[in-house]
Amino acid sequence: MTARHTQPTHEDPAGFQARFQAFEHDGWARRSQTYDDGFGLLTAGAHTALLDAAGVGTGISVLEVGCGSGRLTAAALGRGARVTATDAVPGMVAVAAAAAPGALVRQAVLPGLPFPEAAFDAAVGAFVINHVAEPEAAVADLARVLRPGGRVALSCWGAAERNVAQSVVPAALAASGAARPAGVPERSPFLAHSDPDGFGTLLRGAGFREVRVEELSWIHRIDPDRWWRDLLSGTVLTSSLIEGQDRETAAAVKRAYDRLVAEYATGDGRVALPVAALIATGTR
Ligand SMILES: C[S@@+](CC[C@H](N)C(=O)[O-])C[C@H]1O[C@@H](n2cnc3c(N)ncnc32)[C@H](O)[C@@H]1O
Repeated sequence: MTARHTQPTHEDPAGFQARFQAFEHDGWARRSQTYDDGFGLLTAGAHTALLDAAGVGTGISVLEVGCGSGRLTAAALGRGARVTATDAVPGMVAVAAAAAPGALVRQAVLPGLPFPEAAFDAAVGAFVINHVAEPEAAVADLARVLRPGGRVALSCWGAAERNVAQSVVPAALAASGAARPAGVPERSPFLAHSDPDGFGTLLRGAGFREVRVEELSWIHRIDPDRWWRDLLSGTVLTSSLIEGQDRETAAAVKRAYDRLVAEYATGDGRVALPVAALIATGTR
């Protein structure tokens, strides 16, 4: 087994944010062609709840941030909304534009949206706020582009013990004795906001009213080897925990994964993995 820890020890916050953003954007660029038919099937489990929470329907002008492969974009169009979708990564923008031809899809990094104040009735972001380098500035930017009375809805992942579909990877790492690989950011800047209280405080801090945070849970039924492949081809931080290992250690992590997911076997070759997300909503 390897044990490599070479994280910077005295890094200023701006340096960490820049390193985190570069890590994320590079990772998502490499996932843009494989995301949709894998991890994108999991995130779709929260899309209806997000669209409902933001009040997306006929004639509503909605901004989507971190649109990925465009599944939520297409669902918003299907509700009769006027949709502008954005993503930091050109490869994702191209995939989303093909998936949702009726939407305006463009590259934009959050924070730093290229739209005027009060331009939209609603804003949605599915599992993007946990990937941004500056969550406070990102939510403030969403408040800026919403009209007064407009609704925001954002999702992040729920607590590890109820979100087994993803937490199984760090659990397998721990069970196999593997170390966190060098170069993987030690935390997400969103970490302090990743529980219901913190997520709500984040939205209130940007001036949102009527803030609510609710947990959504569902089950992801899938062949366990396929899920391992989907995690590798559709996540950035999670997959880097495996990709950064040597071959022997990666094989040990996979064996630990196999043991852990076997607890969720359904007898038909698949596993039923619990998934949990938080949906935070607020009014501008
Ligand atoms: C987990 S994927 C979610 C994609 C999609 N919303 C979904 O539900 O499947 C995260 C997406 O956020 C994008 N992203 C990451 N950081 C971003 C940022 N700072 N601004 C805009 N998009 C970002 C990534 O390129 C990626 O497409």
